[in-house]
Amino acid sequence: MTDALPVPRRDHRGVFVSFEGGDGVGKSTQLSLLAEWLEQRGVEVVRTREPGGTTLGQALRDAVLHGEDVSPRTEALLYATDRAHHVASVVRPALERGAVVLTDRYLDSSVAYQGDGRALGTEEVERLSLWATEGLLPDLTVLLDLDPDVGLTRLSGAPDRLERAGAEFHRRTRRAYLDRAAAGGTRWLVLDAARPREEVQAAVRERVAVLLEQLGVPAVGSP
Ligand code: TYD
Repeated sequence: MTDALPVPRRDHRGVFVSFEGGDGVGKSTQLSLLAEWLEQRGVEVVRTREPGGTTLGQALRDAVLHGEDVSPRTEALLYATDRAHHVASVVRPALERGAVVLTDRYLDSSVAYQGDGRALGTEEVERLSLWATEGLLPDLTVLLDLDPDVGLTRLSGAPDRLERAGAEFHRRTRRAYLDRAAAGGTRWLVLDAARPREEVQAAVRERVAVLLEQLGVPAVGSP
């Protein structure tokens, strides 16, 4: 494609934070710890995730992770459908009333997993998600980086379609995340997920405190 990417827009009072990284890196644990800390300080927090942050999203999650095998394009469209509905019905309304929205995965998952992992092209997949979300990008994206050989051994239960995609696929997605973060500027906070979880959380809180101050959300105090 030759057209420029759609321009991301920020037209809400709230704060949007996404957690990204490979499977088994501890995203949901870090998200919960951050949510508790913010809630204790009186901040309205909406915790959500992709895929599956809505009722329709649950059905899409089931289809994409546990359903029949689908082509890479179908997979990308299923994630984009989940995202479009999630943003329109959960994320934007919360941001408009001034909440802090914490999502376990967002658009960068599609860019890394479908754009690079499934080799659909990062720019095309990003364009699809920006169209689906009317250009909504997070204010902060926390990338928890870990060797996928370590991350995948932390998982329990039967592996889903993506977890079964193979070691090379997961190495590609890790590289895609790191490259994107390196080129993506101040939206990104990259943390070594092999560090103790308290240390990782302290770094997340420190950054979120600065962000809330910058965006004029009432001070949450020191981490
Ligand atoms: P996740 O909910 O993190 O898995 P789990 O609950 O099993 O830890 O994500 C489900 C899988 O979907 C994960 O392997 C990453 C993949 N995924 C994509 O490939 N593209 C996307 O856009 C998203 C949001 C997730």
